[in-house]
Amino acid sequence: MKLTIVEYPDKRLRLKSKEVKVFDENLHNILDAMNPIMINTNGIGLAAIQVAHPIRALIINIPDEEGEQPPENLLEIINPVISNKSGEINYNEGCLSVPTFYEDIIRSESLTLNYQDRHGNTKRLEADGFLSIALQHEMDHLEGKLFIDKLSPSRRRKFEKEYKRMLKGRK
Ligand code: CO
Repeated sequence: MKLTIVEYPDKRLRLKSKEVKVFDENLHNILDAMNPIMINTNGIGLAAIQVAHPIRALIINIPDEEGEQPPENLLEIINPVISNKSGEINYNEGCLSVPTFYEDIIRSESLTLNYQDRHGNTKRLEADGFLSIALQHEMDHLEGKLFIDKLSPSRRRKFEKEYKRMLKGRK
C-alpha cells in the first residue's frame, strides 16, 4: 500500500473520521503503511486522515533519549476517547500536514486515554507531557481540526500568507 501525506489546505483534512468497527487486514495494512511514512518524515504522530483514510486511527512514537523511535515504542491507537484532562502545557507544535510551520499551542498537561489496539482489544493509558500533547494533536485530526485553528485571528492571517509563499516557492 502506497500512501502519501495530505497537506493543508486539502479539504480532506476537515473530514470527521469514522469509528473503526472491523479490525481486519485492511486496517492492519493501513497501519503498517503509516509507520514508515511517519518515521521517514521525522514525524512523532500520524492520523489516518493525513494519509487520506478517514478512520479513527492514529499512530504515535515519541523519540527516546537518543532521539530514536524503535518499533517497540510504537503506539497504535484506534477509536480513542480522552477523559480526566488536567493542567496546562505549552509546546511549539508542528504537523506533517502543515509543513514548515511551527507555533506554541496550549494543551492539557495530563489525561487518561481509552482506546482499542489493532485487534480491537480495549486499552487504557495515562499520559502526561509530550505524549499527552501528541495524543491531543492527533485526536484533533480525527475531528477535522488542525493546530493552526488555535491561532489568534491575526496570527492565522500571517500564517496563511507565509504558507502560501512557502507553497509557491516549492513548485
Ligand atoms: Co498533525
